Amino acid sequence: SRYFALIPAAGIGARIGADIPKQYMPLAGQPMLMHVLDTFAAAGAISHVFVVVSADDGYIADLMAAAPHLQGRVTLLFHGGATRRDSVLNGLQAIREEVGDDDWVLVHDAARPGLTCALIERLVETLRDDLVGGLLALPVVDTLKRGDQNARVAQTVERAELWAAQTPQMFRYGLLLRALTLAEAVTDEASAVEQLGLQPRLVEGSPRNFKVTLPHDVALAEMFLKEKF
Ligand code: C5P
Repeated sequence: SRYFALIPAAGIGARIGADIPKQYMPLAGQPMLMHVLDTFAAAGAISHVFVVVSADDGYIADLMAAAPHLQGRVTLLFHGGATRRDSVLNGLQAIREEVGDDDWVLVHDAARPGLTCALIERLVETLRDDLVGGLLALPVVDTLKRGDQNARVAQTVERAELWAAQTPQMFRYGLLLRALTLAEAVTDEASAVEQLGLQPRLVEGSPRNFKVTLPHDVALAEMFLKEKF
């Protein structure tokens, strides 16, 4: 089976407070999404990269025009949806003719520019013979509290078994399409697969693969992107 990347990049990134969508914010001299596309284009295991953008995206054409090295490696899908799950599901439906049920799909947030080829390789090597699939994730370091409506602690959650989910999340095309079609209100692919009663595998990710979300994240992301690895 082959390995494909699917990148939902149709969000508006409201929490970052910038005047352009988050995935196009400049980071270390490149739009955030460009870092992600470069990494997947350079990853030996990946056959092709699909990017889901919104139908009225006004930035992607300029990005692609500035990236002749991505020609033939990246296909744009103008099928963004109302939620991340909708964007991913629309993307999966749009590539139906090009991908087989047993091919692997690595779904990765455009907002995680710190991904490296080494992390992709670790995920692919760990899961290539897996029956379910899985995701990059990091063991949680903070003590976590569940709060009530009055911001009072309702419960302390046992930290020892907790992981923070990252992306890529890697599942076979047929399974992922079925899972996301049936899923209700999920914020990642693994949750949809869990709703089928399956247990995705957790593969250790990296702090540098964090999701750029809030204004102060930009400086941290630039620090990681300038690092040699
Ligand atoms: O908003 P958040 O950071 O959780 O978004 C995660 C990823 O999902 C981003 O790459 C964003 O562009 C994408 N997304 C999408 N369609 C939406 C919402 C988010 O493709 N409707």
